[in-house]
Amino acid sequence: MKKIAILTRDCAGINAAIRSVVRTASDYEMEVVGVMRGYEGLIDGELIPLNRRSVSGIINRGGTILKTSRSQRFYSESGQKQAVKTIHDNSIDGLIVIGGDGSLTGAHILATKYNIPVIGIPTTIDNDITGVDLTLGADTAVNVALDALDKIRDTATSLERIFIVEVMGRSCGYIALNVALAGGCEEVLVPEMDVDLDGMCKEIQQGNEKGKISWIIIVAEGKAKAHDIADVITKKTDLETRVAVLGHIQRGGRPTATDRLVGARFGNYAVNVLRDGVKDHCVSFKEDKLFTIPLSVAIQPKKIDVDSYYRLIKILT
Ligand code: F6P
Repeated sequence: MKKIAILTRDCAGINAAIRSVVRTASDYEMEVVGVMRGYEGLIDGELIPLNRRSVSGIINRGGTILKTSRSQRFYSESGQKQAVKTIHDNSIDGLIVIGGDGSLTGAHILATKYNIPVIGIPTTIDNDITGVDLTLGADTAVNVALDALDKIRDTATSLERIFIVEVMGRSCGYIALNVALAGGCEEVLVPEMDVDLDGMCKEIQQGNEKGKISWIIIVAEGKAKAHDIADVITKKTDLETRVAVLGHIQRGGRPTATDRLVGARFGNYAVNVLRDGVKDHCVSFKEDKLFTIPLSVAIQPKKIDVDSYYRLIKILT
């Protein structure tokens, strides 16, 4: 294998992974090109050469130096064929795709429909890739959200207020559950669980009568809008509420040590397995051991043990 390409989504830790891929590949004297703007750049042939020097000073930076996009064109067969043409025209022998379920689905299509040697690096703040305990980017996202939550708690406690804090997670409650547990929150609402709003409002009301006034409720964006939950609570309890929507700050920021280490190890391992002829797989680790899983498995919806999290959150409040 003489020449490989890297394509990315965005979140903290990706630059550490790019650096690791480039430097590992250059140790093997392989050429590396970066695909700009994700699948859009692959379709348009927007490639840049990467070498040891071009990835210096990026390990501590959030986002992706390669920029990214959500590509609509790659859903179509003509877009895919154009992307494959870029790969062949540029004599690219293998591709490393750093991203979440959408990007890895694209990688799986390239591998199965067009026979392109592709390895995925599971990367998303949602930590929703099957067979992967911790995706790249998830640790920083939880820490960024937790940092914001701790600040909200200072004012919530001082003013004895009920706060509803909305975090990211369209179909997965990973960030919400972890932030609620690590932040000592009273309640969490996630897409994977039914919510008993009446019961929650009664609990708030009863707590209020006994002198427990300040509450922090975490809601995953895919479950409900924080403002709607706040309206219901105010209507049913007659208590004042405040809302904070954390939004995209969760996908940015300086990567934690964990994400830099995961990026470094995943990047290095991805190059090694690609050289060994593995394709249509994604890297993963368990108990400190690296291995690969088929992309067809990785892109299936991941099930998290929501009940255990929820029980613990309720016991500890
Ligand atoms: O998949 C990662 C994620 O950050 C989700 O948590 C969120 O729902 C979505 O992406 C937001 O997408 P966009 O940045 O395109 O609005």
